[in-house]
Order: sequence, then structure tokens, then C-alpha cells
Amino acid sequence: MVIAVPERSAASRFADLTARSGLCFGGDYNPEQWPADVWREDARLMREARVNLVTVGVFSWARYEPRPGAREFDWLDEVLDVLDEHGIGVDLATPTASPPPWLGARHPGTLPVDAEGVRLVPGSRNQFSPASSVYREHALAITTDLVVRYANHPAVRMWHVGNEFGQVCYGDEAAAAFREWLRDRYGSVEALDDAWGTAVWSQRYDDWSEVLPPRRMPYHPNPSQALDWRRFCSDQLLGLYRAQRDVIRAHDTERPVTTNLMGFFAGIDPWTWADDLDVVSDDAYPDPGDPQAPADAALTQDLVRSLGGGAPWLLMESATSAVSWRPHNLPKSPERSRLESLQAVARGADGVCFFQWRGSRSGAERFHSSMLPLAGADTRVHRGVRRLGADLERLRPVVGGRVEARVAIVVDWPSWWASGEVARPTDRLDAVDQLRAWHRVLWEHHVVCDLVPPARDLAGYDLVLVPQLYLLEEVAAQALTDAARRGAVLVVGPFTGVADERAHLRTGRFPALLRDVLGVSGEEHAALPDDGVPLDLAPRWPGRPGAGARASVLGELLRADGADVLATYRAGHLAGAPAVTRHGVGQGEAWYVGTVLDQRSTADVLLAALRASAAAPVLPGLPAHPGVEIVRRGDVLFLLNHSPDRALVPVPGPHVDLLTGEPVTGVVDLPGHDAVALVDGPIERTS
Ligand code: GLA
Repeated sequence: MVIAVPERSAASRFADLTARSGLCFGGDYNPEQWPADVWREDARLMREARVNLVTVGVFSWARYEPRPGAREFDWLDEVLDVLDEHGIGVDLATPTASPPPWLGARHPGTLPVDAEGVRLVPGSRNQFSPASSVYREHALAITTDLVVRYANHPAVRMWHVGNEFGQVCYGDEAAAAFREWLRDRYGSVEALDDAWGTAVWSQRYDDWSEVLPPRRMPYHPNPSQALDWRRFCSDQLLGLYRAQRDVIRAHDTERPVTTNLMGFFAGIDPWTWADDLDVVSDDAYPDPGDPQAPADAALTQDLVRSLGGGAPWLLMESATSAVSWRPHNLPKSPERSRLESLQAVARGADGVCFFQWRGSRSGAERFHSSMLPLAGADTRVHRGVRRLGADLERLRPVVGGRVEARVAIVVDWPSWWASGEVARPTDRLDAVDQLRAWHRVLWEHHVVCDLVPPARDLAGYDLVLVPQLYLLEEVAAQALTDAARRGAVLVVGPFTGVADERAHLRTGRFPALLRDVLGVSGEEHAALPDDGVPLDLAPRWPGRPGAGARASVLGELLRADGADVLATYRAGHLAGAPAVTRHGVGQGEAWYVGTVLDQRSTADVLLAALRASAAAPVLPGLPAHPGVEIVRRGDVLFLLNHSPDRALVPVPGPHVDLLTGEPVTGVVDLPGHDAVALVDGPIERTS
């Protein structure tokens, strides 16, 4: 009799790892850049810093296969053995992000072609076409040999497929693959013509062979074609990820497989990838010069956690100090680096890793910060790394803990893509900027939220925000409507419900499919003058009176169809038209914000919606403390002070700070750029 062994669940693979190791801590490790005698010193220093996971081999293909068909793994045997002897786990990468130069030299078709028709050359990295069958063949061959050799190595704890998938190729093989993808989606050229609306500008295709990627054209591309191209590119890369993942799974059913996503990166739709990752991993490089960086980091972390359905995720890459790829690279203090790491843990990460362990002497990343700078271990940066390693050990009770949210923000990649296509009312409206502005209000007021794709069942949420959903499908509109009817508060932003899934504009008054629930409808989208338009606030406006609310970027000529009007345009093309409305519906409410409000008015609206809902901040009643982030993960209450100034935050206690072991009662005294991780206490000492 054959007994079927059930497949392990994705999340349990990573949970097993962290249950053994505690929070992951480490970084990319590129030993091939150093002579073998450095490897032992690296492992010793890693151990001293409490590093327990390093990502090895991301860019090692040319070292494994210096010439076609060669296999040189001896050096990696030694590296893995040394790491294992020191108790350091390895996240072993498939080396497929950077093929050796010989591949492109012998097979130019493996090299990517840009939209202008230029074939890119080796000498950097990412020099492959995801559509190239020759590239795939070689990538899977080296992956197979690597996996077969190391699937049972005791150092290997996790698998890392490729690196930051995002490559695009517009070449002939990609064009053929695009046509195949379109054939699957539409079946016939006639259906494609219909979906792309090719009656416009004489674009009608008569045969599949005429269909191309949106390469450089004389004038604006067809937005439906551009949208499908984005979908195709994301799917094609996912196929490449899956092919490598499947090779790994054929030899190792136990260890988690992942790849490093890049937060709000437009190149792939992460909602369609998430189910294929055993743990969602993210690379994050907040700009130390950007005052919004902490709020934006929180937004990305909420996305990454939500992609995994709330399961712990992994900060796969971050920087201890400056990066080297911005035009001007401000450094980060060790305190800020620590704080950013703790922020990730607070918002659901079960590990914090950096690019990279030992800094590089040569190559394009020679000025990038690292965990072990070229100046050595007796450095400010490395001391900061050691401090963080100790902190993460103390945070072991956090492992596996979940961040619970009653607020959802809807975010959709195809909608973001389609709303950003050329030739629209304004190119100043960006769906992610709008999302950032709305999320920031929640973050500043210590309200935790999940991000959800459209059409997700919203049953667990009391407040549902839709900052912008240009492309709206029936099933998503139904989910939003159902949420409001059963008692949630729904807040919808401008330029929503404009187009269908083909990026065709919907006919009739907008926002299509949401008019009934919102009790409002519109007939014109109108770009607003550069200095914006003042709003007249109705007496029932929820915020401070006379606050001087302004609309900017885009407005809409709206008509209330049952909703209360809370603000109208005072002047200009939209004078007198509603800008903000509220509509009672079923057990809930539906608000519409038909413009980009100034940040203070955005806060007025969103906080009023929050008060009207059953959702609440982490510590209800606590006034906002500028720069202080408060989030609860499992039983641990994190307070993170992103400002350089001391903050005094009253927190009903008593508590113990896991980071110091000290009792905290009444008021948390938080120095600038510091954090506490509070658990109920104090712990009674029994001896
Ligand atoms: C990305 C890459 C790394 C490295 C870092 C530098 O995250 O994955 O290989 O180049 O950027 O910041």
C-alpha cells in the first residue's frame, strides 16, 4: 500500500526554520570575491555577530561554469563546510540572475533587447532575456547540478531563486512568447482586436504574426496592448521562477524556496507570485534623506506581510548605511539601521538580512555599505551590526507572531499599470503616491492595516480604503459593496472605476459599478490648475473648521445621488461640484473623495471614517506622537521612534522591554531613533 505523504504547507517550511534558529539575521555573502583564507575569518566574525543565515551564490554562475559545460563546485563545498562548522545556515541561490559572458558571446539571442531594439551586452548583470530558450536551458542545467549537489548539505536552510526578478526583453523570441500568451488569453486575432480596441488609429491586426511587444513607436502606444505586455512580462518571469523552484522541489521537499521581491516594484504583479513563495522576501532600501521613508517602509512592510496572508516574512536585503546606486548616497547611522530592522520585525518580519556581509573591493558596488566594511570589524558600522544581532536574539519571543489588522487598503498592479499609461487627464496622478498619502495617515495615528488585492473577501475588515482603483472589475466592485452593506466603512478615492480589465473606459457616469454604493456619480475628469483649488467645507465636514482645505492634481465633475456633500470646489471649472461625499448604506457607510486632498484634509476624512468604523488604533485614545510608530505583533507591543527627538509616550503597563530586560511602567521614555518591544510584565523573579 502506498501512503501519500501530504505536501508540507509553504508557511510551515519557513516556520520550521525560524522555530530552530530564531529570527534570521545575516546577509548576502559573496565569498568568490575573496581568497579562501578570508572565509574562515568571515565565518568567525559572523558567528560573533550572531549571524545565522547568509545568502550564497547569487552571482556565482561564472565561477561554477567558467566555460560551457564546466562544473567547478569545489570552492563552494569548502565555503558551505566552513559556514556549517560555525553553525551558520545558508540560503543557497540559483545563480541565474547573471549568466557568464560566454553565454551571450556564443548565443546572442540570450541577451535582452530593449524597447529601442538595442541588444544589451554583458559586463553588468541581468544580461538575459527571460524569453530565451537557450538561456532557460543553461539556467536550468546549472540549477539542477547545484541543487543535486547541495540538496542534502547540512548548511543549506533555504533556497533563493535568481535575484530581483524584473528583466524585460522586447526581442523576437519575446515577441513570439507574447503572441503565445495572447493566443491563450484571447483565442483569436479577432478577439485580440476587440480587447485592444484596434478600431482606433487603424491598428486592426489581421494575423498573429503582425502582433509585437510595445517597442518604440512613432507616437503613443495602445494602452490595452501596453497593459497586456505588463501582464505578460510578469507571468513570463513567474514561469522562470517556477521552473527553477520545481527543480529544487524535485530534490528537496523540506526547505523553503523564495525569491527577493522589491516592494512596490512595477515590473511584476506580486499578488500573482505570492502563492509560489514559501516565504515572502523583500529587498528594501529606504532613502535616509527622505523624511517619508519610515512611513513608506511601513507601507511596504504591510504589503509584504499581506502578500503572505499575514505569515512572517523575511527582509532579505537592506543596507547598514549608504547604498551606491543613487546619484547622492546619504549614510545611515547604526541607530537608524537598527531602528529600520526592528520596524521590519514589528511589522511581521521573522528575519533581517543585508546586502552584503563583507564589502566589495572591486566592481560596481565597491562603495555600497556592508555588515563588515573594508575598514574591518573595529568600525562603527560593524559594532552596530553586532548590537543588532544581540537585539534580534532577544526578540526570539516574537517569532511566528502575527500583526492583526481590521483595516484593509485595496491595491492592484494591473490598475496601477493601466492608470499610468500615456495620454490621460494628468500624468501627475500616481496610484502609489495616492496610496502612500492615505496609508501615512493611518501610520501616523498608529492604525495597522493589511493590503488586499481587489476581489478579496473583505469579511474581516471594518474599514476598507480604496485610494485609487482605475481598473475595476465586477467581482471587486461587489466585494466593496458587500463590505459597506454589512457594516464596514468604505472610502474610495479619485480616478476609480474608470476602466475595465482591458483598459477600455466604461461608459455611463462614473465611478462605474460603485455609483449605487457611493451615492454619487460623475461625468468629467478634470486636471486642476497648478496651485490647486480651494474647497468649501460643509458644516458636517469632519475635521477642524476653517482648515483651508485644497484640492489638487485632478478633480471630477460629480453629482450627489443620495450622498451627503461634505466639501465642494469653491472656484474654477468644477465650482460648486461635490469633492467629498458620504453615503449611508446598509449597516455601513461609503465615502467618496473625488480629488487629491491636501494631507491634513486627507487625515480629516480618513480619521472620521475610522471613528465611524469598528476599527481602532493600536492604543485607543493615545494622541498621535509625531514620528513614533506603534504596532502590536502577537503579544509584543513595539514603539519605534523615527524622530531624532526624545518621545514620552504614556502606555498603560506594567511591561518589560524585551530589548533591555528592564521593566517599563506608565510612560515609555524613548530616545530619538530608539525602540522598545514591550511584553506584559514585569516578570516575577523566582530566585
Ligand atoms: C539589490 C540587489 C543586490 C545589490 C543591492 C544593492 O537589492 O539584489 O544584489 O545590488 O541591490 O543595494
